[in-house]
Amino acid sequence: MAEDRYLTFALTKGRLADKTLSLLEQVGITCEEMKDKNSRKLVFVNEELKLKFFLAKGPDVPTYVEYGAADIGVTGKDILLEEGRRVYEVLDLGFGKCRMCVCGPESARELLQHHERIRVASKYPVIAKDYFYNKKHQTVDIIKLNGSVELGPIVGLSDVIVDIVETGSTLRENGLGVLEEICELSARVIVNQVSMQMESERIREIILRLRKQLEEA
Ligand code: PRP
Repeated sequence: MAEDRYLTFALTKGRLADKTLSLLEQVGITCEEMKDKNSRKLVFVNEELKLKFFLAKGPDVPTYVEYGAADIGVTGKDILLEEGRRVYEVLDLGFGKCRMCVCGPESARELLQHHERIRVASKYPVIAKDYFYNKKHQTVDIIKLNGSVELGPIVGLSDVIVDIVETGSTLRENGLGVLEEICELSARVIVNQVSMQMESERIREIILRLRKQLEEA
């Protein structure tokens, strides 16, 4: 492979971005251009290391990586499960830790235990469907929402929600709680399947350095 090909990183905007960038910096993967918060640029380049970086919405990160528009991506396990893209998941970064849970008012616990046909609101319809149909063998109606999912049971749209719980404070402040845990989540590194072969040396080196840094931290 030509030495001067750029390796491109797709990173997730928002909560994960700062932690991801500081971890990359610790292993020498830096991008000065990205530190300028006023910049409207979308793609940032480190000419010396032949690296490119861009920030995207979480659910779009595996899409960029599957199609090879980015070689490497960092996003949440929730997104990987929901999007089901063909990418290699190579490393658990251990931050952005949270849980995917079935949540609702205490009164909904009984509906879950009796396998009632309930309404489930979620930003994650694929994860919700997999959990209820394949793991619990419970027929439910899934309603897709795009955010503030806790509203579902509060305003009477749904009986429960399937959502991310980090500190649990959003649930508590709204009179809801965790009823069942589906799985644990955290930030993951993903790699394009062709890049893994074609740029194997550079990519393996990056993964190794990240793994070492995480072990030492
Ligand atoms: C997520 C999630 C919960 C909240 C959980 O929402 O959907 O609402 O965080 O965090 P907590 O347990 O620490 O309270 P996010 O802020 O990403 O926005 P959204 O509601 O628009 O999805």
